[in-house]
Amino acid sequence: EFKENTVIVIFGASGDLAKKKTFPALFGLFREGYLSSTTKIIGYARSKLTDAKLRANIEPHLNITKESLARNPNIVNDFFQLVKYVSGPYDTEEGFLQLKEEIDTFKIKRNLNNLNQLFYLALPPDVFLTVAKNIKHLIYDPHGINRIIVEKPFGKDLESARELQKNLAPLFNERELYRIDHYLGKELVKNILQLRFSNTFLNASWNKENIQSIQISFKEPFGTEGRGGYFDSIGIIRDVMQNHLLQILTLLTMERPISFDPEAVRDEKVKILKELATINQKDILIGQYGKSTDGTDKPSYLDDETVPKGSKCITYAALTFKIRNERWDGVPIIMRAGKALNEGKVEIRIQYKPVPSGIFSDVERNELVIRVQPDAAVYMKFNAKKPGLSNDMQLTDLDLTYSNRFKDFWIPEAYEVLIRDALLGDHSHFVRDDELDVSWGLFTPLLEYLEGPNAPQPEIYPYGSRGPAGLRAYLENHDFVFHTKGSYNWPVTRPD
Ligand code: BG6
Repeated sequence: EFKENTVIVIFGASGDLAKKKTFPALFGLFREGYLSSTTKIIGYARSKLTDAKLRANIEPHLNITKESLARNPNIVNDFFQLVKYVSGPYDTEEGFLQLKEEIDTFKIKRNLNNLNQLFYLALPPDVFLTVAKNIKHLIYDPHGINRIIVEKPFGKDLESARELQKNLAPLFNERELYRIDHYLGKELVKNILQLRFSNTFLNASWNKENIQSIQISFKEPFGTEGRGGYFDSIGIIRDVMQNHLLQILTLLTMERPISFDPEAVRDEKVKILKELATINQKDILIGQYGKSTDGTDKPSYLDDETVPKGSKCITYAALTFKIRNERWDGVPIIMRAGKALNEGKVEIRIQYKPVPSGIFSDVERNELVIRVQPDAAVYMKFNAKKPGLSNDMQLTDLDLTYSNRFKDFWIPEAYEVLIRDALLGDHSHFVRDDELDVSWGLFTPLLEYLEGPNAPQPEIYPYGSRGPAGLRAYLENHDFVFHTKGSYNWPVTRPD
């Protein structure tokens, strides 16, 4: 199941992402037996840290399960036995030579002829290319396997993304490059194609004849605390929509691939992306969070000292996509995302068309909900007769809540899934160059408008609220029908 003697180098090892996601994911794989104890993990960054300090930074973020301790009380020590830290600059050779020495020692000790290396770039964009070049010139093993995982941002618009790709392509070919979008590693996102194509009733109804609207919604209960300065040049669209939510949209709407071969899947993704119409700039809802109004005393976005005064950066957006093909023509696909809202939740909601009234006077619509997080679930709002003597209808559900149904399963974290895929050379859940190009092409005109001289003023919504006040009307204007009868009660709340 795993490759022996792999070298994994994490650049940006002292940063937040490495500490909270990358190292914990490697630990998770090790804990579950998917990372060999012959692996060498090297953290590289500018900060001068000792191995012990690096460990102290990472350890609080590890998921050390009771079961794993019962199997091996020494699991954490065993993991850190594999980890070494090297500190050095990104833009000169000296640190890279030290890194090379570390790798060479490993190679000699293990008697290896060539190396199997995975480089993980958890780095800010300004040092990204420099590091890629230094890896290529000083660490790359032309006789071995070299894979490089890169983190977003992959540019900030079409032009910069192309420029980045142009510079990266001579260094690493597409086979060696793994552009990570961690949403593709989430269990329920990975499951979309299986759900659609392995269930005849879903597959048969997955079209404009039966579906009224689709919503993909991302809600976070916290603001940009501590990273406002960074976020200000990014905004919610680049942060989660152009990547994470667009990936979900693609999986929901693409045609059936000929197989699960990574290229077959990604070919279909590119095809559907090319069929998306340009986003209508007049048909958006944008917001920025203000102070909370519920007595919790939460700050507004502009209160953050690292945010430029009067910034129009948007922390909330709702957009609507249209797809010009036979399957989807006329079905609104609403994407909405926001920070500092009333809850944290990511879900997909497919609302079906109404049944003809005829024998029914007040029957509700079916809705299929794929809840990505928290509490992974797939459920369908489903009509049935009220039990008993009456013929009255009751809205109920077909409910697949993962925590009820799959008790003894390990649901891996997204980063665990993706790092393992990269170790095995599987590109299925990574972003291909042409896919990235089309997606930037879709969003760039909108971003230029939102950041240009005639940028509209975002509507202020209170921290901890459901978003801009116009949201309900926006959804209704795009054919979403709110459930009104009040009797339906799934453990989750209804959409807001
Ligand atoms: C990241 C964004 O890509 O995704 C963050 O930069 C966001 O702003 C995060 O919080 C959400 O990821 P998750 O896995 O917590 O839903």
